[in-house]
Amino acid sequence: MHEKYAPEGISPVERPAAATARACSNVALVKYWGKVDERGRVPATGSLSVTLGGLKTETTVAFSDRDGPDLVVLDGRSLGGREAARVASFLDLVREIAAVHGRPVGAASVRSVNYFPTAAGLASSASGFAALAGASLRAAGLGGSEDELATLARLGSASAARSVHGGFVELVPYMLESGAWNARTARVAAEGHWDLRVLVAVVDAGYKPIGSTPAMARTAATSPYYGGWLETWGADLADARDSIIARDLERLASVTEHSALKLHALTMTSRPPVQFLRGPSIETMHAVWDLRTSGTLCAFTADAGPNIKVLCSAADEERVRAALMSVQGVQSVRASAVGGPMEVVGHDVDPVAWRGASGEHEEPSQEAGDGE
Ligand code: PMV
Repeated sequence: MHEKYAPEGISPVERPAAATARACSNVALVKYWGKVDERGRVPATGSLSVTLGGLKTETTVAFSDRDGPDLVVLDGRSLGGREAARVASFLDLVREIAAVHGRPVGAASVRSVNYFPTAAGLASSASGFAALAGASLRAAGLGGSEDELATLARLGSASAARSVHGGFVELVPYMLESGAWNARTARVAAEGHWDLRVLVAVVDAGYKPIGSTPAMARTAATSPYYGGWLETWGADLADARDSIIARDLERLASVTEHSALKLHALTMTSRPPVQFLRGPSIETMHAVWDLRTSGTLCAFTADAGPNIKVLCSAADEERVRAALMSVQGVQSVRASAVGGPMEVVGHDVDPVAWRGASGEHEEPSQEAGDGE
């Protein structure tokens, strides 16, 4: 088990045949970039996200009593290679926790469906690992608090910790007395607090120059601006938190863009450089500034990829959508309201893919698509 992960708040419950959980993706308004502990996936900087209600993942997990390889099917496709290994090592952690609680479980069968077009480059490790954490813990016959689930989800993907809570969520690193690092999550406000929209402008579905984990390591090692990044996130986080509590979109817009542009300045000034943005990404940023100049309050942000996410009030959604769609190179725009927490939605449903005796499994029908 991960040495710093002490599952104190986890307790045995009745073990179901299988468990299903749903979680939304999220986008950070104040970004994290860099890790202080790679293995524990502890971010080097605090972050604050808004949960994306329109981008959901549903995951069902069933554990066998026998050992063997895990079977993982995502959107009807059996995972192999590094993707499968990442899920398997996460499930190993759940198996270790289950064993500690006297609930030993064997190989898992996992079926996960993204209720949004993954082909549009919107696949999300945040919603995926949040749903996997909820479903796998429950399927192993264990219950845990939201905080415990967030910690577990973080060990799959740091940003997944924020998807467990829903609404507006902080993820902040802290140092233990031993000198080791951990991180805590906190909900700043629930989803009903503020009726905002996040519009995702898809500009390039397929482009992925480098994964975020190696890109973060390169930035920390080579960008001359990394020191400034570490010094300034605390002020950004406080600014964003206060803006959300006060529902002050103008102030939130300013810190959101500042944080995103600092992150991209870091990657561009790494050696060798990493440029996640494409031409249409920059044009979309200009379209957002044009909207603001003409009186529509909105702000952009961008993660480790070329798609641009735009924050605005519910009342301005259609105006912002029209402006984004008119940018050359924007392929589609998908709006989300503020989403809620991860939920375990079913126990005791039939194991979906497990064929224990033979180790074979059945591919579920392709049912990914618009879940709204
Ligand atoms: O935790 P990961 O590997 O999903 O990395 C997330 C990094 C950013 O999306 C760029 C920033 C963030 O805070 O979500």
